[in-house]
Amino acid sequence: MKKIKVAVIGCGAIANSAHIPAYLESAKAEIKYFCDIIPERADKAVDRYDCGKAVYDYREILDDKELDAVSVCTPNDMHGVISIDFMRHGKDVLCEKPAARILKEALEMQKVSKETGRILSIGVCNRYSNAVNHIKRLIEDGVLGEVHHVHASFRAHRSIPGIGGDFTKKSTAGGGALIDWGVHYLDLIIYCCNEPTPLTASGNAFCKLGKNIKEYAYKSMWSENTADFDGVYDVDDSVTGIVRTKGPVISFIGAWAQNIGVDETYIDFMGDKGGIRLEYGGSFKLYSFSDGMLLETQPDFKSNPIHKDEVIDFVNSVIKGERNRNDIDNAIITSKIMQAIYDSSDANREVEIV
Ligand SMILES: NC(=O)c1ccc[n+]([C@@H]2O[C@H](COP(=O)([O-])OP(=O)(O)OC[C@H]3O[C@@H](n4cnc5c(N)ncnc54)[C@H](O)[C@@H]3O)[C@@H](O)[C@H]2O)c1
Repeated sequence: MKKIKVAVIGCGAIANSAHIPAYLESAKAEIKYFCDIIPERADKAVDRYDCGKAVYDYREILDDKELDAVSVCTPNDMHGVISIDFMRHGKDVLCEKPAARILKEALEMQKVSKETGRILSIGVCNRYSNAVNHIKRLIEDGVLGEVHHVHASFRAHRSIPGIGGDFTKKSTAGGGALIDWGVHYLDLIIYCCNEPTPLTASGNAFCKLGKNIKEYAYKSMWSENTADFDGVYDVDDSVTGIVRTKGPVISFIGAWAQNIGVDETYIDFMGDKGGIRLEYGGSFKLYSFSDGMLLETQPDFKSNPIHKDEVIDFVNSVIKGERNRNDIDNAIITSKIMQAIYDSSDANREVEIV
């Protein structure tokens, strides 16, 4: 069988932990290029995985007729630029989440995907989780009745990544806790609730604990290797909001850092016949009632490698020429909600989502 040829753009954490291993395991794909603006990272990938060619500027490979698709694994500010360039050169794209820093960029990506007919999948990987898909089916089967409210908590005591680096600058990341973590929670909710149209949003995004970088107290930091204590910190380290949709109301509280010593990462789906608490990244409990009894069910099922399954599905989509569940048309809903939360926070009032 002929394998599709792919390039991985950005050879950092998510590329090495998710995209590259999945392509290497796939019998249907072959990595032709590893690209990073830090040459050692591209070179190291070629050595480590013993395949492909290192390139340091993605524009060098745009015209390669053999190249079918790319994974965009760069910081958020380059998602739009790189994805659009590859789509305009006839390649399908799997772009990491969030789609872009701001809604305007995400809408441009969606427009180019339509104009060129190229697949644009966004890395909202929870859509591939077995737990999430069981919840989606339980909701579709009416087990929860009408799901009127979904509440998410994505809070940690101290978990600002790479403070002062790419993650904590509006210019590169677009936002903080909401755009980095909230995107996964909101997209998961939107997916389980059948992609409801969002109507209004009210929210507040707070830049409090990280802004005095040198005084930020913490035990450890993921992405610490990108930290720059002389750098910029101007994004939200905590956020809260309420979103009205044509389906359920969604409320959330999120924090990369808070002066409350708990880490809470769950989503509650509340219906009139039943409810579900999903422990994010893990399993869930189903609450219901029957014959005067309150029932609590702890389902048992196989968990799965969601990043790998996402990449494998992307490869199949490219081969079939069909869009998949992570298509920009679905992911754009979360981009709209996040933009509305930031706009509402700036304006200090509820805003409409159009
Ligand atoms: N789906 C998930 O669960 C998940 C998890 C982690 C990160 N991410 C997303 O993946 C993206 C990358 O995050 P990361 O943690 O891997 O960051 P990282 O800093 O570890 O890696 C990013 C890499 O991109 C390279 N790069 C920057 N600009 C480039 C350009 N113009 N061309 C080529 N390479 C370039 C950098 O040199 C770096 O090696 C972010 O958008 C992040 O939000 C998603």
